[in-house]
Amino acid sequence: MQLLHIGTYFTSEQAPESVPSVGSTLDDDAVRALHAYPTDVDRPWIRTNFVASIDGSVTANGKSAGLGTPADARLFGILRELCDAVLVGAGTARAENYGGVSLSTEAKARRVAAGLAPVPTIVVVTASGSIDADSRLITDTEVQPVVLTSAAADGSKVAALRAAGATVIEVTGESVSTGDIVATLSDLGFRRILCEGGPGLFGQLVSDGAADDLCLTISPMLVAGEAGRIAHASDAADAPMHRVHVLGDADGTLLTRWVRRP
Ligand SMILES: NC(=O)c1ccc[n+]([C@@H]2O[C@H](COP(=O)([O-])OP(=O)(O)OC[C@H]3O[C@@H](n4cnc5c(N)ncnc54)[C@H](OP(=O)(O)O)[C@@H]3O)[C@@H](O)[C@H]2O)c1
Repeated sequence: MQLLHIGTYFTSEQAPESVPSVGSTLDDDAVRALHAYPTDVDRPWIRTNFVASIDGSVTANGKSAGLGTPADARLFGILRELCDAVLVGAGTARAENYGGVSLSTEAKARRVAAGLAPVPTIVVVTASGSIDADSRLITDTEVQPVVLTSAAADGSKVAALRAAGATVIEVTGESVSTGDIVATLSDLGFRRILCEGGPGLFGQLVSDGAADDLCLTISPMLVAGEAGRIAHASDAADAPMHRVHVLGDADGTLLTRWVRRP
């Protein structure tokens, strides 16, 4: 993976001399430094990570994994290592059969040394509460998930999730607003957020001006078909972004990072 372009030394903890030069090959330390969260925010900072095809599809054969490349997988793991919580919509958790975050012993040690919990928590957003208590989110994880759900949630599902060990937080509305999401993350002490989609959840964040940071990987393929793009919402939005950097891999993968303009 190479640095093709850098637009800004974005994070305050990142000394300019530690930033690699354009064209240099990036080791994992350099990739981590390029994706460090800002240190001077007193609220949850919501970064989102997506992979899309050149023609804008978020899936190939129904799964994001169909778009995966080695560079995308590498960045996916590094971004998980850097966050306090992975925020995900229930549609994605179900479609992608989510389990808990799995990290190497070395990654956990780096996190602890940096003051983070050894493993990030998954926070699933669901209006219906339709997360099975025997899903991998509950059964294949080192840290039980937080299920953030609404007043419309199925009571028996909620009870089963609680009995299985999940933390279930119910908001008063029929859906979970962006304000509810941010307040919950903040109350739980999570500041470095990694949203892994999907397009419904991300569309809401974009519409509400809460998409702080986007890591968008362009996979070197065209897929056509009927799959959607990375954000959908009932209302159109206008959220100008600042280009932070562009990375490239030998297979043609492009890895871009954007932050919201103040
Ligand atoms: N290419 C990529 O990087 C990538 C990343 C993520 C996902 N994907 C793909 O995207 C597809 C899923 O798309 P999607 O739009 O359905 O994903 P999604 O946003 O993860 O799921 C939508 C569902 O999540 C819950 N949800 C989301 N926001 C909510 C809110 N504010 N309040 C309450 N519930 C909320 C609802 O679940 P309930 O129905 O339980 O109420 C809703 O039906 C899958 O095919 C997945 O593979 C691709």
